[in-house]
Amino acid sequence: VTVLTRTISLPTYTVAVARGALGALAETVRRVAPAHRYAVISDTHVAPHYAARVVAMLGASSQLFTIPAGEAHKTRETWASITDEMLAAGLGRDTTVIALGGGVVGDLAGFVAATFMRGVPYVQVPTSLLAMIDASIGGKTGVDTPAGKNLVGAFHQPSAVVADPDVLQTLPPEHMRGGLAEAIKHGVIADAGYFESVVNVGAALGTTRGAGDAITDLVARGIEIKANVVRQDEREAGVRKTLNFGHTLGHAIELCSDYRVLHGDAVAIGMVLESALAERMALADSGTSASVRSAVERVGLPAAPPRALSLDDIVRATHGDKKARAGRAEYALPQRIGAMAGGDRGWAIPVPDELVRDVVAAVTSR
Ligand SMILES: NC(=O)c1ccc[n+]([C@@H]2O[C@H](COP(=O)([O-])OP(=O)(O)OC[C@H]3O[C@@H](n4cnc5c(N)ncnc54)[C@H](O)[C@@H]3O)[C@@H](O)[C@H]2O)c1
Ligand SMILES: [Zn+2]
Repeated sequence: VTVLTRTISLPTYTVAVARGALGALAETVRRVAPAHRYAVISDTHVAPHYAARVVAMLGASSQLFTIPAGEAHKTRETWASITDEMLAAGLGRDTTVIALGGGVVGDLAGFVAATFMRGVPYVQVPTSLLAMIDASIGGKTGVDTPAGKNLVGAFHQPSAVVADPDVLQTLPPEHMRGGLAEAIKHGVIADAGYFESVVNVGAALGTTRGAGDAITDLVARGIEIKANVVRQDEREAGVRKTLNFGHTLGHAIELCSDYRVLHGDAVAIGMVLESALAERMALADSGTSASVRSAVERVGLPAAPPRALSLDDIVRATHGDKKARAGRAEYALPQRIGAMAGGDRGWAIPVPDELVRDVVAAVTSR
């Protein structure tokens, strides 16, 4: 039994963050969401490392359902095959789902839980840095469709989140880096001290890969920041929009590259560009963009879009974002490191395309 180093409370559930927390998962599940049967949903990369342990811990009433790893499988088809398998295995209303994996598994298994038998409880066990500090918190679940990412889904809050930073030891470095991009984002949005520490921990990662108490602190504070935001605005009517910082241009770059640029890398580039945009619009203190750029570079993330992508395509793709309004895309923009601008405008600032094009061209010196 592990002593939890940090618990973070949301209105209907608790997030436990501790090295070794996975060892106490069965206890947590039986406390917050006891059920007749347990469906452990994982993917082909995560399951070989951790699923046997989780299934053994939960006992004979649990069963593993594995999806192929990767964003390409966060689909209605995968949702259909998992729910079919659950039905075939005789699972009913008295089932709890355990989402064991990164954000793809979390979103998909959460959507299975939101819909199976009109909704059953689930527990998030995030195994990527991104899933720990971002995707597992806040109750957004869903799948992608050919028309875009996350277009079909539901709000469904987990019964608990159990984050064990020790599992990050097996996370591939490029995904660790992707999580650091979101951690930097949390710092810009809410906490300049956190921003500094993420950069320091991130820059040292090459030598101290994976776990460690520094990573645990990084995860715990990252979760607190996200929890503070979603606690105030569960349905993204206001302040939750600040979490889109770096994502309007980030999503556009992902889209234009046919997803060859990884999400975290695209967000890092998006944050550099969007903070420059905020400076140009006199919303951000001067130097904000330089700080973001140096943070991104120090942890090994890219700071500019690949040359192969055309500026016009990038700007056009900002409207392919479901957060966009026709003509001008909406941006979450910083005021300085640690605080966002636009609180008087619902935290979403419409920016004309020409200005975006100008700034992107200037920053990337094209
Ligand atoms: N619901 C939300 O609020 C929210 C917020 C942000 C992102 N998301 C979603 O999260 C997804 C991205 O999440 P992600 O970056 O975790 O992607 P992911 O789930 O694809 O994980 C990245 C890769 O790492 C592997 N992996 C994960 N944990 C591992 C571990 N401990 N050891 C070894 N391999 C491991 C996965 O199998 C995968 O190959 C996107 O679909 C995005 O839309 C959701
Ligand atoms: Zn993101």
